[in-house]
Amino acid sequence: MARRFILDCDPGQDDAVAILLALGSPELALEAVTIVAGNVGVDRGVSNALKILELAGSAVPVYRGAPRSLCRDYSLGDRFHGTDGLMGLALPEPTRQAEPESAVPFLARTLSAAEPGSIDLACVGPLTNLALLLIQYPEATRGIGRVAIMGGAIGLGNVTPAAEFNIHADALAADVVFRSGLDLTLVPLDLTHQALATEARIAALRATGKPTAHAVAELLARYPKLEKFNFAGGPLHDPCAVAALIWPDLVSGRKVHVEIDTTSGPGHGRTLVHWWAKTNGPAANALVLDRIDADQFYRHLTARV
Ligand code: BDR
Ligand code: CA
Repeated sequence: MARRFILDCDPGQDDAVAILLALGSPELALEAVTIVAGNVGVDRGVSNALKILELAGSAVPVYRGAPRSLCRDYSLGDRFHGTDGLMGLALPEPTRQAEPESAVPFLARTLSAAEPGSIDLACVGPLTNLALLLIQYPEATRGIGRVAIMGGAIGLGNVTPAAEFNIHADALAADVVFRSGLDLTLVPLDLTHQALATEARIAALRATGKPTAHAVAELLARYPKLEKFNFAGGPLHDPCAVAALIWPDLVSGRKVHVEIDTTSGPGHGRTLVHWWAKTNGPAANALVLDRIDADQFYRHLTARV
């Protein structure tokens, strides 16, 4: 039976692919997409989510969330996703708008009315919306099941040597989330850097002949390859968090303790992962994944979008 599911994101090219993967997956019943400022401003994120949903013929509602981070006025600029967030992919302007209710009150209302542990979340942007929910509506969080987070790194970061973008963009929010006791699965760069959009994988998406798969191929073809890492294709981060929920057999990792560096120095936003846990160390608070079967992931993704 499909699990109830809400996707919190900042679209963003890979966020857009995560939306399409969730929509195409019978394991998840996508009830809403909530938007947070991150790759682009929150209004642009709303518009991009609506464009992608309309491309797929979906009427899933979109809720506008936090317009800025708890701890910094962060803007990634257009380094990775272009000023429009979709690297210039031409899609018709959406005919719908965001719902009138804001994302955090929507989440509180929906989760409060749900069976305990019955709604899974994937958070693939800065964690501002989830942190605000935890702070403002702690009683609502009993409705949450699993939370898959794309963010952080066991090793090196991508926006600083220490930090990955989503966590760096709102380290205070991440700190609130990692102290919350929620059932967290962290999908860090160490895993997503295995899920590379190679030319062969992009060609397989194009070969399906489906308009949505074609759009995914276009998004992936525009994704920066990050030559500095000598990658064979752009790393497809956010869909890996959705994959962790629907195909747990494709991923592996360890239950460990994760803490967030909220200091203002060069370590700001680092996920300190206690990979080599000591028996008397802090208790595990997250399943941290470090491996994915990338070939199988792309085969499944291609079939679903
Ligand atoms: C994360 O940052 C964003 O640019 C991507 O959408 C992804 O969520 C990767 O560091
Ligand atoms: Ca994202």
